[in-house]
Amino acid sequence: MSYQIAVVVGSLRRESINRQLAAALVKMAPQQLNMALVRIDDLPLYNQDDEKNPAEAVKRLKDEVANSQGVLFVTPEYNRSVPGVLKNAIDHASRPYGQSAWAGKPAAVIGMSGGAIGTAMAQQHLRNVLAYLDMPTLGQPEAFIQNKQGMFAPDGSIAIEDTKQFLGKFLDRFADWVKHHADRVANK
Ligand code: FNR
Repeated sequence: MSYQIAVVVGSLRRESINRQLAAALVKMAPQQLNMALVRIDDLPLYNQDDEKNPAEAVKRLKDEVANSQGVLFVTPEYNRSVPGVLKNAIDHASRPYGQSAWAGKPAAVIGMSGGAIGTAMAQQHLRNVLAYLDMPTLGQPEAFIQNKQGMFAPDGSIAIEDTKQFLGKFLDRFADWVKHHADRVANK
């Protein structure tokens, strides 16, 4: 059994370290997880007036999330919170009221920054939002990744062995988490 995972990256920057981290995670995904990045860079700014006539990009995001069995958020920290582009995407797919694409999807959060706290505060804000959206979110291991010189190999994989091993464990735990929730839904 393999599970489709929507990977949402909270940075639009071309050289984003979080996009690089997401790409490395996709490459090293355990075989139960089929991980694919979802686009958020072409979403309009959320405006409730548009809910009855959503843009194609909004419909696409909602479909991709709805067709996934789990969501992995890979995000930088902006001013001790999540970047606006990520919150914009979350808001879009949460609406109209009662038709949220996120509801019930198991999630995990991870992020990388140069700072020692490695996006911890952004992740804590994000967890608050995900709790409201009824997304059971993996509690452990917390994944506050500090970027270091030589983190990425030329092929995009993680070059620092400790970090690579940690990320492998993180993905294994996430795979168990997604399976646990899929089984729970199947046995309802
Ligand atoms: C940052 N950065 C940052 N870093 C951090 O650890 N805590 C923070 O609160 C912030 N705040 C912040 C605000 C804004 C507007 C910017 C542009 C940057 C630095 C940030 O971690 C760094 O730019 C990362 O490289 C951003 O992630 P991506 O885009 O490389 O994935």
